[in-house]
Amino acid sequence: MLKNKNILLGVTGGIAAYKAPSIVSNLRKQGANVKVVMTKAACEFVTPLTFQTMSNDIVHVDMFKQLSNMDVEHISLAKWADIIVVAPASANTIAKFANGICDNLLTTILLASRSKVMIVPAMNTFMLNSHANRENMKKLSDRGVMILDTQNGVLACNDVGDGKMLEPAEIIDEIDSALTEKDLEGKRFVITSGATIEPIDPVRYITNHSSGKMGYALAKQAKKRGADVTLISGSVSIEAPKVDNFVKVSTTQDMFNAVEKYFDKCDVLIKAAAPADYRPKKYSEEKIKKTAQKDLEYIELVHNIDIAKHFGNSKKNQIVVGFAAESNNEINYGIGKLRSKNFDIIVVNNIKQAGAGFRTDTNIASIIDRDENVETLGLMTKTELANVILNKVRKLF
Ligand code: PMT
Repeated sequence: MLKNKNILLGVTGGIAAYKAPSIVSNLRKQGANVKVVMTKAACEFVTPLTFQTMSNDIVHVDMFKQLSNMDVEHISLAKWADIIVVAPASANTIAKFANGICDNLLTTILLASRSKVMIVPAMNTFMLNSHANRENMKKLSDRGVMILDTQNGVLACNDVGDGKMLEPAEIIDEIDSALTEKDLEGKRFVITSGATIEPIDPVRYITNHSSGKMGYALAKQAKKRGADVTLISGSVSIEAPKVDNFVKVSTTQDMFNAVEKYFDKCDVLIKAAAPADYRPKKYSEEKIKKTAQKDLEYIELVHNIDIAKHFGNSKKNQIVVGFAAESNNEINYGIGKLRSKNFDIIVVNNIKQAGAGFRTDTNIASIIDRDENVETLGLMTKTELANVILNKVRKLF
């Protein structure tokens, strides 16, 4: 989503400036064009040469240097940017921007700009929470400037508290989100993800390999595109994306109950989870001893409810998207599941293919619609696949 976007990074004087080169390099890896403007104070912490190397472009510091062409630099840079991100933003620069002071190149660009502006504060806790700084940040926020949070941690002055700059990965996520078209705004999505677990006794359980990566990528992208997202997650060990409503579940029955709670009011249900199809008929309250061999050699299983089938067949206006994890003959099995579970779209992956299915950051899928048209996609990241699926869903609205 950041490909070919023009991002102007303003760097001000603060120790967090040492993290800014990594923002530049990660933005460029994602295909963005990056130009850097530094204040003189920023140059005390990191050299312009570092940013020049990372951005592969000249770094702008001086307001009054000889112009290489007849462009007025602060105006042309302000016009060029899709977004101006000030990271780290010192209390001093925030105060100047809030009050229309333009005494260096960065503050002059900020005043001249009509593009989106994102401020990433980094400062001591007392400075952050001072009346003056809070008022300045509020002033900017009321004008539509995006002000990111800080994180809590050990600060340069050895105080512990708020004021630490967000990590580069989080900042890049916020930039991506700010530049993403909100084409799913007003739509409510329920997305299930990850594996469910069915306990045998207090120690043992039945589960599967689902990591939650596919469902979490869908939830994150849907949220970025403006949807209201409820993410119902089974057992996973990855960090949850920021969504409107995060529901943690354990068993398939729990997942069913959670979907039931939100289904009526949703516009789209995406079933990326891998719920366990069976559970032990009997749960043992005590750990089953190895000596009682028969108990572990024969665990009687019973069917769990098929969540997707239940809601696919009882839907009213909802769009229901299913997945199928297959190890052979995936298109035929996929079409069978599309029909029997009454899906609008099914995403089929062959879990035996390298780079597809469980746990990987990538997937290889075929998407089948209600008319049974099959679109076979190549290897792509789960984030890319999530956007392809969301584009298909958007066309169905
Ligand atoms: O989580 P990752 O590691 O990123 O892996 C992603 C994935 C491979 C798990 C995902 O892409 C995927 O294919 N998910 C569906 C896995 C699965 O349960 O497939 P299935 O063919 O058994 O089920 C078909 C559909 O019915 C699925 O939408 C599933 O969510 C749903 N189902 C299945 C059983 C059940 N009891 N209730 C259900 O709702």
